[in-house]
Amino acid sequence: MLRTLADSGSDREIRFIHSARSPKDIIFREELDELARDHGNFHIHVLCAEPDDNWRGPVGLLDDTTLLKLAPDIRERSVYVCGPEPYMKAIRGALQRIGLDPDRYREESFGGLTRPAPTPSASQAASVRFARSGIGQQCRSTQTLLEIARNVGLYLPSACGHGICGTCRVLKLAGDVETADLGGLSAEEKAEGYVLACCTRPLGEVALDL
Ligand code: FES
Repeated sequence: MLRTLADSGSDREIRFIHSARSPKDIIFREELDELARDHGNFHIHVLCAEPDDNWRGPVGLLDDTTLLKLAPDIRERSVYVCGPEPYMKAIRGALQRIGLDPDRYREESFGGLTRPAPTPSASQAASVRFARSGIGQQCRSTQTLLEIARNVGLYLPSACGHGICGTCRVLKLAGDVETADLGGLSAEEKAEGYVLACCTRPLGEVALDL
């Protein structure tokens, strides 16, 4: 949509707000910077949930307070939202609290796919060691790494739950897993040992950098 507006020379005043897990997860970052540079009416705002030391932009998750800060006149705007369902639900809630007229709200589904189930042959005993937290947990091979992390009280951000968005990415330090991601990891990330916790299940003893 932003490209089309740019190509057609639109003079609409746009607030483009993107939520990323970390700076390296910002999609089309260079193109967005370029669009903002070339079009004075495009204002690009990126929030990072997990900033690195060089990050100077807004931090955290998008909520009503941040939305109002980035677009104080949001009630007079048309709002278009795209993302995993839990993300859109959170934004819908924030906009309701702000008082946006529902007629001004549009959203586009991020997927709507059914959950990819690795379908382990049978439930077997397994275990996960969360190395940074110093926690070990006995579990079953039918549980996802995300479920196991939550069971021991560890926070691991997640969004789509389908292996699409990459939000639940975690580094596997050791062990075998069964996974069914739907493109949420790059080939490089896979080679580095990352897995998507929402759609990955442990086979035997697994260690994670969490
Ligand atoms: S939550 Fe989206 S890939 Fe796991």
